Amino acid sequence: MTKPTALVTGLGKALAIRLAPTHNLILCDLNPDPAFMKSLPSAIFVKANVADYKEFEQVFKAGIEKYGEINILVNNAGITESVPFPTSNEEDWKRVVDVDLNGVIIGCRLALDYLSNGVVINVASVAGLTGFAFQQPIYTAVVGLSKSMVLFCKRKGLRVNCICPGFVRTPLVTASEKKGYKTTGNLVDINLVVDGFIKIINGKMTGQVYSVTKDGISLHAFNEKELIAKI
Ligand SMILES: NC(=O)c1ccc[n+]([C@@H]2O[C@H](COP(=O)([O-])OP(=O)(O)OC[C@H]3O[C@@H](n4cnc5c(N)ncnc54)[C@H](O)[C@@H]3O)[C@@H](O)[C@H]2O)c1
Repeated sequence: MTKPTALVTGLGKALAIRLAPTHNLILCDLNPDPAFMKSLPSAIFVKANVADYKEFEQVFKAGIEKYGEINILVNNAGITESVPFPTSNEEDWKRVVDVDLNGVIIGCRLALDYLSNGVVINVASVAGLTGFAFQQPIYTAVVGLSKSMVLFCKRKGLRVNCICPGFVRTPLVTASEKKGYKTTGNLVDINLVVDGFIKIINGKMTGQVYSVTKDGISLHAFNEKELIAKI
């Protein structure tokens, strides 16, 4: 049987390493990491900006040319704010919205044209479910986008789910700390987040939102029926 093919943006190193034995991999990032790419010689790496529709589309095209089809899209690329909100300017927040939200919207749109028989996984954050960061509304929007994509994806035979990790020790968090942001003491093991991705990839669920904290992976309950009954 041929291997399924996964396109992961923002490198997603730990996920790529876990998927490599069983999946074809297309890794898309703005910043090449030659040492990492060397460690995964069978993966293809495409340098692209996910906030640029045409560039991101080229990544899908390159993947299909190489592997015939793409089954999994992980919208993982992201950046963090460069300054605290009270001292930020228009450029600061537009830059973050462009990558962390528009990049995910573009990925979802392209998935409808280029993904087959698989799943889209959008990466948001527990901040999008709770609210303690400048980026909270962006992450909340990614959660909402994932829910609103369910029907469009279903029509194309795809699933879509969202994963919301707590703080994970990655270059993004280290960069935030250097700027003076405090993380909670409850750092999440990156392997738990990867377990969340694998659970979604191997499962049958769609339209679900999972948080990943130090205690593990939990389904975020929405009580949608209750809410819909009230509107
Ligand atoms: N680390 C955490 O604590 C944490 C918690 C919750 C959510 N997240 C989210 O998880 C995702 C991954 O974060 P991470 O911690 O692994 O960050 P990271 O900085 O380690 O990795 C993000 C990657 O995205 C790439 N990237 C940035 N802008 C891009 C663009 N325009 N196009 C293509 N690639 C681009 C960067 O080069 C980098 O390799 C992000 O969306 C982040 O918001 C992270």
